[in-house]
Amino acid sequence: MFLTYVRSLPNNEEQGQYLALDLGGTNFRVLLVEFTSSKQKILDCERHEIPNDLRFGSGQSLFDFIAERVIQFAIRHQLVGVRIALGFTFSFPLHQHGLAEATLVRWTKSFNCSGVVGFDVVRLLKAALKRKMHKSIPYVDVVAIINDTTGTLISGALMDKNCVIGLIVGTGCNSCYVEKLENIEKWPFNYSEPRQVVINTEWGAFGENNVLDFIRTIWDRSLDYESVNAGKQIYEKMVSGMYLPELFRRVLLTLIERGVLFNGHVPLELLRPYSITTSSMSKIDMDTKLNSFRNTKTVLSELFVRCDYSDVDAKIVFMINNRITQRAAYLIATGIWALAKRIDQTDISVAYDGSLLCLHPYIKLWVEEKLNKFSSSTNKKIRLIPSHDGSGYGAAIVAALCYREKRPKIVKRNGKVYEVTSFLNK
Ligand code: GLC
Repeated sequence: MFLTYVRSLPNNEEQGQYLALDLGGTNFRVLLVEFTSSKQKILDCERHEIPNDLRFGSGQSLFDFIAERVIQFAIRHQLVGVRIALGFTFSFPLHQHGLAEATLVRWTKSFNCSGVVGFDVVRLLKAALKRKMHKSIPYVDVVAIINDTTGTLISGALMDKNCVIGLIVGTGCNSCYVEKLENIEKWPFNYSEPRQVVINTEWGAFGENNVLDFIRTIWDRSLDYESVNAGKQIYEKMVSGMYLPELFRRVLLTLIERGVLFNGHVPLELLRPYSITTSSMSKIDMDTKLNSFRNTKTVLSELFVRCDYSDVDAKIVFMINNRITQRAAYLIATGIWALAKRIDQTDISVAYDGSLLCLHPYIKLWVEEKLNKFSSSTNKKIRLIPSHDGSGYGAAIVAALCYREKRPKIVKRNGKVYEVTSFLNK
């Protein structure tokens, strides 16, 4: 669990234009966001793919690549000669020392750049921006760094005042929630209002101390053993979009080897790790008994050039797929329920985002069903609310919040006027 230093949730006071940078998957995005008193709007958003060699190369090359795109984006928007604040959504575990100071604890998902773990990511980004910023080019000021779950929570909080949990189920899986300051033993600052702080749970790492072993299968274990981060992110490997299709592939292989599927013939394509995608799994899950597993058969024909499957094969494939996605949904619901029980509030809204939860036909429904069961004997009401583009908006909102908090405020005491500057984190 990590402190985020985000304490204020937005109250629609934020105004002006801000940049946001969102890095967490195989793409990164640069956004220009505008806040007016009545609404928030993404004025422009540019997406870039991160080549494989950069995801496994040196940190400096990665940040140079990103900085170059940020500067080009700013120039294109004629932000020349101005100072513009940037909020950075960096979706990896961070040890934060302040709102714009954070060292990378470890890479997760499909990243493994050298020279970043243990270093301040904001500094690395600032240094790369400095290398790219020349005279008369905009001055991009990195003012805040957040996790994608925090962004999702913040942008959910704009729509719903009961929103106290942020959830991402995409390539990776993680959550954050609002905790009372009094429960934080090592809070390094004062206990002034607001007496709360957002905690990034990094629950993807849950299970690294073997507590999930009693439900892990041989396929969970072999996937983990052969992954780039063996022994790490155990829960994430059971629930997120990057790993579910790989679990599916592994179970299929075992059943073929045991002669249960496809007459024991392995389609060549199935031998390639990570070759199945979540969209195939979603399509299979859309089958019903009534349509004779038509979708499953279509997916099998799309995935494998040569594969002789029977009706029974299709049914088994459907069932395996369904068990994997449903198990993921139930595990996610269990995680949310653990947080909900901790939060002293009856109505709890969970802002969610992420490709798996947003695009899969049933996962969200299964999560809700399970949560209803968990909460049926209590007075808690848990609602899942979509927070589209929280990781984009969220960073811009935090950048704006940071400015809001830093803006001098005028107070009157005993007839005298004072200027009070309250900082978000110090
Ligand atoms: C991984 C990252 C985490 C992020 C999640 C969703 O679990 O460690 O920081 O929030 O993926 O992108």
